[in-house]
Amino acid sequence: MSNESTQSSPDTEAAANAAAAARRYYDTGDVDAFYDAVWGGEDIHTGIYAHEHEPVAKASRRTVEKTADKVAERLGPDRTVLDLGSGYGGATRYLAERFRGQVVALNISESQNERHRRTNAERGLDNLIQVVTGSFQEIPFPEAHFDVVWSQEAFCHSGDRETLLKEATRVLKPGGELVFTDVMAADDTPAEALRPVVARLEVTALATPSFYREQMLELGLRDVEFDDRSEQLLTHYLRLTEETTRRAAELQDVISPAYVKSLLENLPLWVEACRNNHLSWGIFHAHRPET
Ligand SMILES: C[S@@+](CC[C@H](N)C(=O)[O-])C[C@H]1O[C@@H](n2cnc3c(N)ncnc32)[C@H](O)[C@@H]1O
Repeated sequence: MSNESTQSSPDTEAAANAAAAARRYYDTGDVDAFYDAVWGGEDIHTGIYAHEHEPVAKASRRTVEKTADKVAERLGPDRTVLDLGSGYGGATRYLAERFRGQVVALNISESQNERHRRTNAERGLDNLIQVVTGSFQEIPFPEAHFDVVWSQEAFCHSGDRETLLKEATRVLKPGGELVFTDVMAADDTPAEALRPVVARLEVTALATPSFYREQMLELGLRDVEFDDRSEQLLTHYLRLTEETTRRAAELQDVISPAYVKSLLENLPLWVEACRNNHLSWGIFHAHRPET
């Protein structure tokens, strides 16, 4: 019997393993409590800071606003957006409230999705938002379905980013736009340098800005722009480290002491990686041509 139909390719297997690891990670009580307490329960991504003492939640919300500004011309009440890896749904709700169109939130973590749906109902937004459990490696929507595909700090969890970008492009309407933020390795950073840093996220390697740019161009996307905000990373990881350190005793009421200890060991590694210019972060924006 041929193995072809029963064996998955290494890329498919890597993607499935990474998706399972992400689900496990975000469904873990300790991890959830950390993101909830330290980020503020809406957004879980890098902030754009007005000053170095700004609350993480406020800076993270500014990131949503600036990312949304990039696609504002394409959005409105008759448009649809897909948010890949939508977390607690902070950006999803922001997009629904600001543009009044339909937003689909695709996310692998069922516990985050339950909370997301509850919050949408409490805020009267469930008529505009559909929360779907699934993986961005295999987007459960037909071709040319969305005006905008959006994502923040989720692609870092992918085990096969080529397929992920192919999927994101497939579901975009002609003339549609892809916009995303992601934490990346700087183009010249050796992969080994970041392994202990990203271990907490159960991620093996990060993408680089050049990788994303090349992939998007290969997929036929045009006007690929990278708004490089890498300088924000140091402030962000210093703020996360400060907050976790300052609130360590109180956090132990909701997070196990062992996990608090591991955070206090891991977060300074991110600070050091930022100081060594090993990481990159910013907003990618690209267009699918009309024809
Ligand atoms: C750092 S959080 C960011 C959440 C949200 N985008 C935000 O910025 O607040 C990463 C998110 O990616 C989701 N994720 C990871 N792998 C995924 C996959 N294969 N398919 C769909 N979602 C995934 C996780 O469940 C999590 O919600």
